[in-house]
Amino acid sequence: MNEAEIREQILGLARRLCRMRTADHVFVPGRTQVHYAGRVFDEEEMASLIDCALDGWLTAGPYAERFERAFSDYLGVGHTLLVNSGSSANLLCVAALTSPKLGDRRLRPGDEVITTAAGFPTTLAPLVQHQLVPVCVDVDLGTYNANPDLLREAVSRRTRAIFLPHTLGNPFDLDAVHRIAEKHSLFLLEDNCDSLGSRYDGKPTGSFGHLASHSFFPAHHITMGEGGAVVTDDQELARVVASLRDWGRDCWCEPGQSNSCGQRFTQQHGKLPLGYDHKYVYSHVGYNLKLTDLQAAFGLAQLGKLPGFIEARKRNFTRFHQHLTRYADRLILPEATPHSDPAWFAFPVTVRPEAGFSRGELVGFLEENLVETRTLFGGNLLRQPAFLDIHHRVVGGLSNTDLVMNNTFFVGVYPGIDEARAAYVMEVFDRFFQVST
Ligand SMILES: Cc1ncc(COP(=O)(O)O)c(C=O)c1O
Repeated sequence: MNEAEIREQILGLARRLCRMRTADHVFVPGRTQVHYAGRVFDEEEMASLIDCALDGWLTAGPYAERFERAFSDYLGVGHTLLVNSGSSANLLCVAALTSPKLGDRRLRPGDEVITTAAGFPTTLAPLVQHQLVPVCVDVDLGTYNANPDLLREAVSRRTRAIFLPHTLGNPFDLDAVHRIAEKHSLFLLEDNCDSLGSRYDGKPTGSFGHLASHSFFPAHHITMGEGGAVVTDDQELARVVASLRDWGRDCWCEPGQSNSCGQRFTQQHGKLPLGYDHKYVYSHVGYNLKLTDLQAAFGLAQLGKLPGFIEARKRNFTRFHQHLTRYADRLILPEATPHSDPAWFAFPVTVRPEAGFSRGELVGFLEENLVETRTLFGGNLLRQPAFLDIHHRVVGGLSNTDLVMNNTFFVGVYPGIDEARAAYVMEVFDRFFQVST
């Protein structure tokens, strides 16, 4: 056999194994757990992954390049920079704003960044890590996004940026946020980790801010196992993010290239000798947050399935919403932000304080019956051990954020929830209400 034939045989066998495994996944109500999220893939991803492995490239290479181009096209942005996680993407978004390359626009320690405390810790963490001051505003119940009036109120002389998640896939009020950012010349960062495929005024979230982060952890809309991306339309910010991701290097040559700037041995940098090799010049105190080509190969096959995944998420969301409306006197149901079309990450529910039962009771019943639930991540992050002593400001109180911490949870809407699983989840909710009323 020649090389191509051997490769063909390996890929054929891998595809066959995948098909066998998929056929094994039979759902038995009350016996099989209904997860809140999970990897959904088939032989396409496996073939792409193995094809890449057989090339033996390993570090970011041809597949990463193809993914970056396809992802930029999908979002309609100029630049995608792949990284090893959504948290790394958030770190780079914030770090980029502190770059000396931005001159006077650069954020400095003590500058304020408006955000929320109801969310995931690594949206908040990079602000703390860069000695910036998070200014937390409360969220609205139902949308779980920052209240626009409070955002306006939160702006001070030190405010330099707004960094918000589109909570659980639901876009925040981009009209209001844009107006505030423009009026006060603020940077806008979007945490789009939970909302790939969501739209606001017809335009994809992740394409509005100066920078936006994405996560490809298995819970998200597409996965690479671990992985993430920063996107931007701004060439200067893209170079800064690439530098910070790639050890802090000044050179922007692609792997395997040399002297793309034509000045590799002729420039003066810092206090280095004239003409010091640009490949080893560092203009940022950087990291190495790159991913591997194997991750990109898996992700590329996932990206092709994104439209179908989004449809499945929307279908499950609509079904749950229509069914659970009958309990709206006891549950606050999720609401899409006006002008938005969310690709929901999950189906969040808040138990009304006057419901007559607690979140613990409802969640306990769902879990006992193998319907997996999660809280809205860290609840009120300012009450988490890691964030108790951080320098921060709160505008207008966080009573809704506290209610989210105490009374909100979500169930999944991911594409692994098929018709039978969705029907079962609704049946378990019904049983709870029959018992508790
Ligand atoms: C809103 C949000 N931001 C950031 C992250 C971090 O992503 P990763 O797990 O890829 O680091 C998550 C993770 O689920 C998230 O939900």
